[in-house]
Amino acid sequence: MYKIKKIIAHPAYNEHLKRNCDAESERIFCCHNFEHVVDTARLTYILILEEGNPFISREIAYAAGLLHDIGRWAEYQTGKDHAEKSADLAKEILIEADFSSDETRLIQKAISEHRDKNYSRKNRTILSAALARADSLARKCFCCSSRDNCNKLEQQPNRNTLIY
Ligand SMILES: [Fe+2]
Repeated sequence: MYKIKKIIAHPAYNEHLKRNCDAESERIFCCHNFEHVVDTARLTYILILEEGNPFISREIAYAAGLLHDIGRWAEYQTGKDHAEKSADLAKEILIEADFSSDETRLIQKAISEHRDKNYSRKNRTILSAALARADSLARKCFCCSSRDNCNKLEQQPNRNTLIY
């Protein structure tokens, strides 16, 4: 997991997460902090293991989870969906963490698609579908104090109980 160690220690990575936390300091709904991205990373890997897919390593699954929301802060400034922005920002960090260009492209594609909840869409990679599912499963909606005001509650898999 030395590549994951490099991501977690990367100054730009920490700067993006700090910007997310600063932008969400008053937010009552789901935040896009380190806890959320670690939960998403672990769940992405669990889902890939359940699929029985031997081609996606733990490092690749974790990199996708850890980086998938790093551009969320920019959405508060521009109103533009953060998936593409996060994929763009991830490139430099992935390369500097020694991921190959093929791995970097695979992870960037999954990040750019993480808001698309059509998991069985044709041509979707296993990593892309697992990351998008993990992102939703990481939310603890069943015990969230803001659930009565959340307009996404009905679409959330954990709205009634914990699944993973
Ligand atoms: Fe996101």
